[in-house]
Amino acid sequence: MWQRYVFAASPEEAGSLLKELGTEARIIAGGTDLSVAMKGGGLEVGTLIDVTRIPSLQSIERRDGKIWIGAAVAYSRLLASPMLRESTPLLLQAVQEIGSVQIRNLGSIGGNLATASPAGDAIPALMALGAEVALAGPGGRRTVPITEFFLGVRKTVLNDDEIIEGVLVPPQAENQIGVFVKHGLRRAHAISVVNAAVLVTMESGKVAEARIALGSVAPTVFRAEEAEKMLEGSDLDEKAIADAAAAASRASRPIDDIRGTAAYRRHLVEVLVKRALQHIASGNVPELLPPMNRQEFRLLPVPSSDEIADGNRVTLTVNGQEVTLKDVRGKSLLYALRDELGLLGVKDGCSAGECGACTVQLDGRAVTSCLVPAPQAHGRTVETIEGISKNGSLHPIQQAFVDHAAAQCGYCTSGFIMSAKALLETYRKPDDETIKRALAGNLCRCTGYYQIVEAVKAAAEEVNDD
Ligand SMILES: Cc1cc2nc3c(=O)[nH]c(=O)nc-3n(C[C@H](O)[C@H](O)[C@H](O)COP(=O)(O)OP(=O)(O)OC[C@H]3O[C@@H](n4cnc5c(N)ncnc54)[C@H](O)[C@@H]3O)c2cc1C
Ligand code: FES
Ligand code: FES
Repeated sequence: MWQRYVFAASPEEAGSLLKELGTEARIIAGGTDLSVAMKGGGLEVGTLIDVTRIPSLQSIERRDGKIWIGAAVAYSRLLASPMLRESTPLLLQAVQEIGSVQIRNLGSIGGNLATASPAGDAIPALMALGAEVALAGPGGRRTVPITEFFLGVRKTVLNDDEIIEGVLVPPQAENQIGVFVKHGLRRAHAISVVNAAVLVTMESGKVAEARIALGSVAPTVFRAEEAEKMLEGSDLDEKAIADAAAAASRASRPIDDIRGTAAYRRHLVEVLVKRALQHIASGNVPELLPPMNRQEFRLLPVPSSDEIADGNRVTLTVNGQEVTLKDVRGKSLLYALRDELGLLGVKDGCSAGECGACTVQLDGRAVTSCLVPAPQAHGRTVETIEGISKNGSLHPIQQAFVDHAAAQCGYCTSGFIMSAKALLETYRKPDDETIKRALAGNLCRCTGYYQIVEAVKAAAEEVNDD
């Protein structure tokens, strides 16, 4: 729960607010970790300081031969960036494994780093690439090598008045091949049981340098240095690969938890590192999937405090109509839509970003509205299931769900339809695999997904009729 919502215009302002307000204040970017901590984890926050409208936190650009990625850029924008697809494919391999479409439309690298979970999926890739973390606050700016950023589980070197402004990532050279591998308990929304990023520099057929970063097997992500050294000078033959994978496993210090035992994790490290190195040796590097969103990003202006009155008042366009909601204190977009506007087609299945029942389109992108604090939607456009039928006729996707018996229960169907709508605005004729990936953030626990996939395929013929 939160009481007050403010937008910071600069990193200095965000840092000053943190200093002034102390522990009652928290930075928010995509909200995919923080909203869960506030709802399920019971975290009470006085003031949320939104950093998503600070220009430097939303930019992707070249800076002195490195790539600058603003801390608040949503993962889906990273995946759609031609520059990043060219220069840091290893990072994007990791990013495309994070959460689901809805989570990638909100979550950011800054949030992944600040949460400092040993299982964060962006971290091993950034570590293997040799990224630096750029910090800023009223006292100035500094950069820290990512290997020195984490102090322990959920602990970093961030000072009380500092925020993460971005990361500086050296682009992959032509002779550097990277592979990210992850083992989770399901296909989407899975916290890594183990993850690993491996980057190898080859010269004249031999390994000149190897970097192996391992996640979820120690209090922080770390580099398996002994294993890296063992690979140098080798031509990535089976023995060198097996020895390095065993050394990486020995270097890990995992714990038992609900996702796996320490022994299982050690075994997984050996399997995953071996697999990554074999992929590199054979040149069989995981493909980058086409981006799931093509909508253009708009950097929104920072609203004045008069305009939003401490974040309790928001003006947004919902289903084509501008509305002002007078008091959204502590509310998610989900509950602002339900309680204030009576849009009951937006359902609460988990309030934790897991089920997709609350999916709406925010500026055209599918998001789980339970994770979005209502003020974050100020000045933006929201579309819900209620807004998609026109002139008394069902939208073609709704009709296809009826025709293919895909409207299986009243709880999940609206979320599935909103995800499908966002998909068909990006892909004219998606194949089964693309549909499954796009809907992976929407759960059904009653009947299954066959009719739903069939309905989306049929709707594509209707909506994107050539
Ligand atoms: C259903 C679900 C599935 C998920 N799946 C994955 C997954 O597969 N892999 C994975 O790695 N993660 C996953 N996550 C976790 C989460 O999406 C990521 O960690 C994400 O990167 C968090 O970014 P955010 O912008 O949403 O952070 P927020 O929730 O906004 O913030 C997270 C923390 O970071 C702080 N913070 C945010 N930005 C800054 C900044 N610029 N400077 C300083 N502090 C900052 C906040 O104060 C907060 O403490 C999942 C989460 C959910 C809900
Ligand atoms: S994902 Fe939002 S209610 Fe389940
Ligand atoms: S569609 Fe709701 S549980 Fe299956």
